[in-house]
Amino acid sequence: KYLKEDDLGQECKDLIQTLPLVEGWIDPTFHEYQGFWFAPKILQGALSFQKHFQAIDTDIILVTNPKSGTTWLKALTFALINRNKYPNIHKNHPLLTSNPHVLVPFMEINLYYETDIVPELNSLSPPRIFSTHNPYVLLPKSLKESNCKVVYLCRDPKDTFVSLWHFSNKLREQSRGTLPLEEAFESFCRGTTSYGPFWDHVLGYWKESLERPEKVMFLKYEEMKMKPNFVLKEIAKFLGCPFSEEEESNGVVDDILHLCSFEKLSNLEINKNGKISSEIENKNFFRLGKVGDWKNLLTTKMVEQLNIVVEEKFGKHGLSF
Ligand code: A3P
Repeated sequence: KYLKEDDLGQECKDLIQTLPLVEGWIDPTFHEYQGFWFAPKILQGALSFQKHFQAIDTDIILVTNPKSGTTWLKALTFALINRNKYPNIHKNHPLLTSNPHVLVPFMEINLYYETDIVPELNSLSPPRIFSTHNPYVLLPKSLKESNCKVVYLCRDPKDTFVSLWHFSNKLREQSRGTLPLEEAFESFCRGTTSYGPFWDHVLGYWKESLERPEKVMFLKYEEMKMKPNFVLKEIAKFLGCPFSEEEESNGVVDDILHLCSFEKLSNLEINKNGKISSEIENKNFFRLGKVGDWKNLLTTKMVEQLNIVVEEKFGKHGLSF
């Protein structure tokens, strides 16, 4: 379910009145709350999630900046955790008939989208897998304090930007026209993207992964593309369900990777023609699925400008792309 602008609670409407505002990419406006930018309905969901969610130790929370590979991470984690329940990836596997965003919902978009209606999540059998784009500062206290696991996936900002620009243009109201590339680029560099600034989002989780590596696992999309087998096994170890030697020799790791590959998922009927909401078609989550598409869109000047920002923000923290 997706919240409509008119459904905002009074508390959120009042709060929004007090917040700095800029023009949004898909939604008309973004509002700055605790250093991050949100569309109104997302802010309401983020606050409700923060206020009401009660984490339990077995929970798995997948976190990303938008367009960093969320769909892939959701598919991989779902298939990994449920590998004994659905041993045959060619038959009756939920990923063959449901989009990954349906199997692993977003907290602030799909579950806590109404102010005072708290979703009933206690009946879900553990481990529960959820996802969020929320920055670390806005995570619920119980999530930070429990022993639940957080898997954070980030992506080269240049590719994230390009992916976000394409996605936003597909979802913007037609009457607003295409968001010009240069305008979007300047906005990305200023940090005014949904859940942005991109760098502050990444750094929040990066720092936490260094301080509490048993709690927060930090992954890069590019590494997953380069060494998917290795990374999937690392995720399995981190989540406390490592692959046995027998599973490895029986090809379970490769089967999951195959099922969750861009080629496989994007060609399924459900992802070619299905919708996750009245506005969003599943195919919008599958564009190219490659590393380095920025080379086809960004000018040399843009790359230089973004590289400077990235070095300034990440350099001293030992992060590079
Ligand atoms: P591109 O637009 O560069 O192709 P998110 O899932 O966070 O919305 O990110 C979407 C990006 O991940 C898109 O990138 C999309 O094509 C890519 N993607 C989706 N499914 C993927 C998969 N199974 N493997 C690799 N990349 C995938």
